[in-house]
Amino acid sequence: MNLAVIIVAAGSGKRFGSKKPKQFLLLNKKPMFVWSVMAFKKIKECCQIILVVSKEKIREMEKYKKMYGIDVVCGGKERFNSVKNGLNIVKDADFVAVHDAARPLITENIIKEILLSAEENGGAIAAAPAKDSIKLSINGKNLTKSLNRKNIWLAQTPQIFKKSMLDKAYSSKIPLTVTDDAQLVEKTGKKVSLVNSGYENFKVTEPLDFKLAEIILKKRNTKCL
Ligand code: CTP
Ligand code: MG
Repeated sequence: MNLAVIIVAAGSGKRFGSKKPKQFLLLNKKPMFVWSVMAFKKIKECCQIILVVSKEKIREMEKYKKMYGIDVVCGGKERFNSVKNGLNIVKDADFVAVHDAARPLITENIIKEILLSAEENGGAIAAAPAKDSIKLSINGKNLTKSLNRKNIWLAQTPQIFKKSMLDKAYSSKIPLTVTDDAQLVEKTGKKVSLVNSGYENFKVTEPLDFKLAEIILKKRNTKCL
């Protein structure tokens, strides 16, 4: 079984607010995206790592191409455009993983678990059960409805699918509101299973998340390749 991973790193990090996009900031001595590259390097089934970056970053990535044996491709305006560009250069894979470069705390074990589930079910994603009470607000001011927390999962990445499933999901017109891959696969009527990946695989979205990621990585004392 062959796996290819698309690591999306072409966002501008508006909510984070730094001059350099968050995924290129040094996190425990490595640019943030490198932590995800290193995690996928440990997966024996993974034969292609595709890093998607904005066109301004393409030249700067030459060094990492050689260092880690990865492919680099230009991203697009929205996350789904970036995934699509990555998908276009997948060489020979039965399964494709999509992972956010902004989730540097991904581990080899979580990837393996999702891969196993994807092999069994066709598609599987990292997710965590909601801890807080969940409220729906249509106008962003008042509570419209309280939802049953038991049914709420927070989607993370990686999200792994049979390549044919992901190709199909990305072949039709994509609405701007789409924020992950499972949302598109779901529309094709295919089953996607949830793998509880806990709370450490959070997305670095705001500066506080970055500080937390630093602390956790230090604690893990992860050795670099
Ligand atoms: N991403 C991408 N191409 C885009 C938008 C996002 O490759 N056009 C990537 C980001 O680099 C990130 C992942 O998708 O690794 C998840 O997106 P998010 O955390 O929303 O990052 P940004 O879009 O950069 O941040 P923001 O929404 O705050 O602007
Ligand atoms: Mg975004």
